[in-house]
Amino acid sequence: MLFSSIVAFLFFATSTVAQPPCTDKGKGVIDDCCTEDLPICVHWNGAAAHGVTGHHCALCINSQFPLSTRQTAPDEGCDEEFRVCVGDRPLAASVEGKDCAVCVNSLQSFSDPNDMDDGCPPQAPVCVNDSGADPPIRTRGTQCVAKCVDTSLTGSDQGCSRKYPICVLADGSDPCIGVPGVKCAKCSPASCNDGDPCTDDFCDPDTGCYHVPIPPTRHLRAPEARPDQETEE
Ligand SMILES: *[C@@H]1O[C@H](CO)[C@@H](O)[C@H](O)[C@H]1NC(C)=O
Repeated sequence: MLFSSIVAFLFFATSTVAQPPCTDKGKGVIDDCCTEDLPICVHWNGAAAHGVTGHHCALCINSQFPLSTRQTAPDEGCDEEFRVCVGDRPLAASVEGKDCAVCVNSLQSFSDPNDMDDGCPPQAPVCVNDSGADPPIRTRGTQCVAKCVDTSLTGSDQGCSRKYPICVLADGSDPCIGVPGVKCAKCSPASCNDGDPCTDDFCDPDTGCYHVPIPPTRHLRAPEARPDQETEE
């Protein structure tokens, strides 16, 4: 009992007061002299130590991906679910944080519909808290949503970005004009209808519309093509 509390004391003392210098071994590994809980070696001021000897070990590094295609990639030390490294105060880029959050309200949602909050994908670009409200700017939220409304039959809808312009319901269909949707997509079945009876139109919400020519044999077998044809068996 006494021994273990001495060991605990020594461990605590060395990890907070006199931690030996650590060395960065790259991403995705526990750096030299760091632990599973605090895997990343940083400089004394919390800046990431890239490939060199640092000062102490940190939980995560904020990489500040917003507006990059990698912004839904987890920050170093975080995971797929809790992607963004956060601190007590808003973090500068490449600086240590103390926790991982689902997302951060990094941008005013009214400033530009093409802006995506840190950690959120283009299909659901707005970071909100459990009640669905915007947390204060540059603080954490708990889910990514699309605050979009169907405002156009054929063009872009309000609240969706240029790359995912169509506001749709959970099943991928169009809400009616003026009705909110739940995510942004490249297309909807309605927006993919090219009016050509000789193509089958498909929407893949993540890649866009497909217009597949209907094979001639299907035209011949279509019921409306029969009256002109011989019906002998
Ligand atoms: C969500 O944020 C709003 C506004 O910032 C706040 O009034 C509300 O209490 C928050 N809800 C939760 C569950 O944190």
